Amino acid sequence: MRKIFFTLMVFTIIQQTKAQHTIIPAPVNYVQTSNELVFNSLNIRTDVNDKDVDRFTRQFKQYLSAKGFTKQTNGTQKTIEVSQNKKKNPKLGNEGYNLEINAQGIFLTANKAAGIFNGYQTLKQILPVKKEMETTSLKGCKIVDYPRFGWRGLMLDVSRHFFTVDEVKAYIDLMSQYKFNVFHWHLTDDNGWRIEIKSLPKLTEKGAWRVERHGKFDTEELEAPKPGEKATYGGFYTQEQIKDIVRYAAARNITIVPEIDMPGHSMAALAAYPEFSTKKEPKYVSPGNKFAEWHNDGTFTMLVENTLNPADEKVYDFIDKIFTEVAQLFPGEYIHMGGDECYHGYWEKDPEVQKFMKKNKIKNSHELQSYFVKRVEKIISKKGKKMMGWDEILEGGLAEGAAVMSWRGMKGGIEAAKMGHEVVMSPTTYAYIDYMQGDPTVENTIYASLSLEKAYSFEPVPQGVDPKYILGAQANLWTEAVPTLPFAYYMTYPRAFATAEVAWSQKKDKNWNDFIRRTRVHFDRFDAENLNICKAVYDPEVKVYTKGDKLMCELTNSVPGSEIYYTINNTYPSRFGKKYTGAFEIPAGKLDLRTQTLLNLKPIGRELRISREDLQSRAKK
Ligand code: ACM
Repeated sequence: MRKIFFTLMVFTIIQQTKAQHTIIPAPVNYVQTSNELVFNSLNIRTDVNDKDVDRFTRQFKQYLSAKGFTKQTNGTQKTIEVSQNKKKNPKLGNEGYNLEINAQGIFLTANKAAGIFNGYQTLKQILPVKKEMETTSLKGCKIVDYPRFGWRGLMLDVSRHFFTVDEVKAYIDLMSQYKFNVFHWHLTDDNGWRIEIKSLPKLTEKGAWRVERHGKFDTEELEAPKPGEKATYGGFYTQEQIKDIVRYAAARNITIVPEIDMPGHSMAALAAYPEFSTKKEPKYVSPGNKFAEWHNDGTFTMLVENTLNPADEKVYDFIDKIFTEVAQLFPGEYIHMGGDECYHGYWEKDPEVQKFMKKNKIKNSHELQSYFVKRVEKIISKKGKKMMGWDEILEGGLAEGAAVMSWRGMKGGIEAAKMGHEVVMSPTTYAYIDYMQGDPTVENTIYASLSLEKAYSFEPVPQGVDPKYILGAQANLWTEAVPTLPFAYYMTYPRAFATAEVAWSQKKDKNWNDFIRRTRVHFDRFDAENLNICKAVYDPEVKVYTKGDKLMCELTNSVPGSEIYYTINNTYPSRFGKKYTGAFEIPAGKLDLRTQTLLNLKPIGRELRISREDLQSRAKK
């Protein structure tokens, strides 16, 4: 009994000391020690002779200086000793590191430069946001850390809305602080072509600009261009700017995967070169006006032709020119060719395409798309790159050597991995960060939702799949409803914390309560840095249903210790009102449900105010 008691006590102490850190993504092993480092200023000393380490160190020094940690105002300067393992520690791989903080100083070691970079990011999170007092003290700790996956990605769509060079850099810099290492850059789509291709100048002269509209994409709210109307919204990146961003990303351990989306999503390219469609009609870059009819079975009819013509040999010359330049600009291993949501209707109606299919014994439009993808794969691999595409590239037969990014759930990824292809998992169900993260009454409404908790529950390796084929995980930010960088941050964070942790931390360490505890600390850090972040996790989740002729309501909130107060009498929902304890009826009448979450009797998150009419319509869905 005593032994059990002792074991329990030791276990509790270990649990408690383990729970002290606030690092995201959680490191593999963190042990708090009893000593403490006290300093007035920090400097860095390294004997590593490596240009990448130099670059990372220079940058980290700048960070320390900007935050006031290098400024000496009394004698206690301490040193961050940075070294490279002479004998490689196999556990740490290329990106892992050891970090120790003790009374003497800070000690960072790694096998490779990338590990040192990641160690610096951890240290940033251990330090206060900026130096606020004469002396800073840090708790002693020993950290062993390395990633679970080699692909930890975020995708930013710069076609639906354009982000400037400085904005793209800022997005990259912030993601690197959470140890993401892939920036998937969605550079082309129906709404704008954003990359300079010198041999095809019209792509940016025409394809980068559209008429300006405000409203919801793909609805009648947005009008098609009027005759003679000037295209004023947009922009593109020159090749010099792209090289600059590639260098900037590399200096943050980030590889850029460029995406040139084809054969669908090509309206901007076709606005520049309509001859590469079947109808060869003049086109405009879509300002987001309604362009598709969506059917109940998930299929759609494109009202405007936005597909390249796979039966035209000149189209492959065009693609070759594009990828020749893309491959020269991006040093990474992969080029993404899209392949998603390609409408086949114009191919099916075109006599030349039909003739081509007959001649080449292509039985249907899926096989025709597969023919196209295989030709593109050959073009890309000739440039020394691996081709990646969205999971539609599986349809009609997957190109040899192609890697698949699974977005319509995990099914496509599972199928590709079972065929021995590399896979990145980024399913809508866990990783689409353009979806709403809170109640539609307080969010910018789009058609689907993804809560932080759901994003955190993502497991990228499905049962029965050999993990060696799963490169990693990625979250995607489509920007139809994301017009600015601060709003891009709002949509990305904190769900990207979840993705970072899914992709970096050990599966066995998944722990929602601990994750939310650390997330709350990062809410404060974002506030202190004046960065936008969504705190919808504090709001209640509202579920309504009918029971007989009654309209019933359930409220949940997954922040440990939180309490939800609500009213259905049009008064303010304070702690003097009704505390939620279980499902309740929303009575008939002209009233609103009003809710407020409290933690330690203090309001957290936003007040929700939902009309009975709205609740009633939700119950019907
Ligand atoms: C996609 O969301 N169309 C890949």
